[in-house]
Amino acid sequence: MPTIPASKLGQNNVSASQSSCCIRLHVFYKVVIASVIILVILQYCFSAITESHKYEPWFSISHPQNPPNALGKPIASSPTGSLFERHENESQSSASTNATDSGGNLPKCPPVPPHLEGPITVHKEDVSTEVLERKLGQSLQPGGFGKPANCLAKESVAIIVPYRARETHLRVLLANLHPLLRRQQLQYAIFVVEQAGNGPFNRAMLMNVGYKEALRLNNFTCFIFHDVDLLPEDDRNIYSCPEQPRHMSVAVDVFSYKLPYAEIFGGVSAMRKEQFELVNGFSNLFWGWGGEDDDMANRIKFHKLHISRYPTNIARYKMLSHKKEKANPTRYKFLYSGKRRFKTDGLNSLKYSLKKRELKPLYTWLYVDIGSSKSS
Ligand code: BGC
Repeated sequence: MPTIPASKLGQNNVSASQSSCCIRLHVFYKVVIASVIILVILQYCFSAITESHKYEPWFSISHPQNPPNALGKPIASSPTGSLFERHENESQSSASTNATDSGGNLPKCPPVPPHLEGPITVHKEDVSTEVLERKLGQSLQPGGFGKPANCLAKESVAIIVPYRARETHLRVLLANLHPLLRRQQLQYAIFVVEQAGNGPFNRAMLMNVGYKEALRLNNFTCFIFHDVDLLPEDDRNIYSCPEQPRHMSVAVDVFSYKLPYAEIFGGVSAMRKEQFELVNGFSNLFWGWGGEDDDMANRIKFHKLHISRYPTNIARYKMLSHKKEKANPTRYKFLYSGKRRFKTDGLNSLKYSLKKRELKPLYTWLYVDIGSSKSS
């Protein structure tokens, strides 16, 4: 029988102990990897609970009645699409958070809201007022006031929508805007300023009224003037006020997503309170379509401010279709002579009478008599 040299026997012993060592190492790595996976899952679940961002009431004005709806009769009876599913999930997932925290113990909201999606689906379909209020109103205070539940917003934003006889557009705007504002973790309220009567529309004057009336309700620091027919396409277009006035509707589908001209300030624009005061608000003299935003652009420039903009891939909007209004033929006259009137035509010369104010579930409705072009 061949004898195995002692040296070889030793080698076998070594390789056997090496392979058992390898098996142990292998098991060890598996345990480490499994622990890491479990930790990641646990952290994910935990952050889903703590970061859920339900909006809770922040605005306190006593308004006992539940006012009737001014949006007209519902057209569609149920929502399609996923707009509300997401909203419902957000509200439900946040039900476990501290809904009664008045804000004292909350951390500041992060500079970049964590739940932004970037490009978003725009929902152009009409939804009944009942459905809208049921789905969106539960996390808002009457008047369309909202704020993030889990952090303190940097500023309070008033969104002013000049309005007359565009019920469908208003419902569609609200359906798109509220979910976006929630994701942006804003403290905000929406004001719909409706012009009474059938005279020429005065968009600028309605925005001045919205500004003044909003400040009677709360100390807003940022004002966003918003056409009722523009729907944001990207939630990185933050509804806040940076250091300079900001033109927000930079790229609109009907303008082939191109800026029509460098000074344009119409559609959707944002100004800080002190900037709006500095320029004396909008002119009150632009009755009918056009020019009032150009006059504001002139005011901004005259007061050594400048118009800022996000890039066109973010500041994008879709416009709802409507009959084109007749342009105001006198707008150029007022535009060219505007400089002489900046000091005297604006917030400090605004005259109106507020016929009604109602805190509706999704917005504050201001019904206002602003007179007519002849009386100005
Ligand atoms: C009007 C503005 C308007 C712009 C874009 C201009 O001619 O004066 O008010 O925003 O066109 O439609």
